[in-house]
Amino acid sequence: MKRYNFSRVVLITGTSSGIGRAMVQFLADKHYMVIATARDAERITDLPAAAHLSLDVTQQAQIDEVAQYVMQQFGRLDVLVNNAGMAIRGSLEDVPETMWETIFDVNVMGPVRMIQAFAPYFRRQQYGHIINITTVRSLWGMPFLGSYTASKAALDALTMALSDEMAAWGVFVTLVRVGLTKTPLFQRSKQYSEPWMTSHSPYWNSYQRGQKMFERIVRFAVNPQVIAQKVENVMSSSRPPRVLTIPLQARIFDNLSPLLRWLGPLRKT
Ligand SMILES: NC(=O)c1ccc[n+]([C@@H]2O[C@H](COP(=O)([O-])OP(=O)(O)OC[C@H]3O[C@@H](n4cnc5c(N)ncnc54)[C@H](OP(=O)(O)O)[C@@H]3O)[C@@H](O)[C@H]2O)c1
Repeated sequence: MKRYNFSRVVLITGTSSGIGRAMVQFLADKHYMVIATARDAERITDLPAAAHLSLDVTQQAQIDEVAQYVMQQFGRLDVLVNNAGMAIRGSLEDVPETMWETIFDVNVMGPVRMIQAFAPYFRRQQYGHIINITTVRSLWGMPFLGSYTASKAALDALTMALSDEMAAWGVFVTLVRVGLTKTPLFQRSKQYSEPWMTSHSPYWNSYQRGQKMFERIVRFAVNPQVIAQKVENVMSSSRPPRVLTIPLQARIFDNLSPLLRWLGPLRKT
């Protein structure tokens, strides 16, 4: 069943590219009042949003400023979408501790900070919806994306806990587990890995084979507009799901994951 969605106020993190950017465009077309945020607000001025704000989810002061601004200008927030995220490639052994800290700071503590900033307003309003974007691979982990999938697994778990904690105030919480989508995310992750995933790594050969397999799978990735449409379905539902895996091929892939491990070309050095 659909809820009335005209002029609902939605804040999205990480809208400079990919899924975040597609969501702003899709929601604006549907007459939502979208607060688009990005680390560099200059990169989102072209988006059809009601506000374009600078927001780095690792910066508490910026988050507090944004929360205050939203309440002053809009008087409420209906939906918070924790979309900002990053990925790093590399074996568990090779990825330096500082990068493990960085990815958890962005992918786990970023949403935690955003939720802590807006939860008091949601409780006061006695309604609201928090949507956290994670990955279909968080359950199984993924070789050479261990830091990424582990951070998303943490986000999965805290989202489930939060959904029970906030239910008493009528606040919905949805975990959207997304499958492979055509965005700059994984190309960027390759750039991050360049300093350590070199021929000096003991994992170099299996990493290379894994990359080839990944490049083949990436061809089946969906466009971010597909994800934006499904997320809008969730936010306009009167009974939003607690967990949603999208698109359909991601659900199939998820179910095949344990089998794929045994077929994988990674089982030799
Ligand atoms: N693409 C996929 O296949 C896939 C699959 C499953 C889940 N996801 C998830 O979908 C979400 C969106 O990713 P995407 O695929 O659309 O990739 P993307 O195009 O790289 O978008 C990631 C966004 O997060 C922003 N971001 C990174 N660090 C940030 C920080 N510290 N503060 C605020 N924003 C920050 C980036 O901004 P900058 O431009 O400033 O870096 C960018 O706007 C992520 O949570 C990702 O994990 C993607």
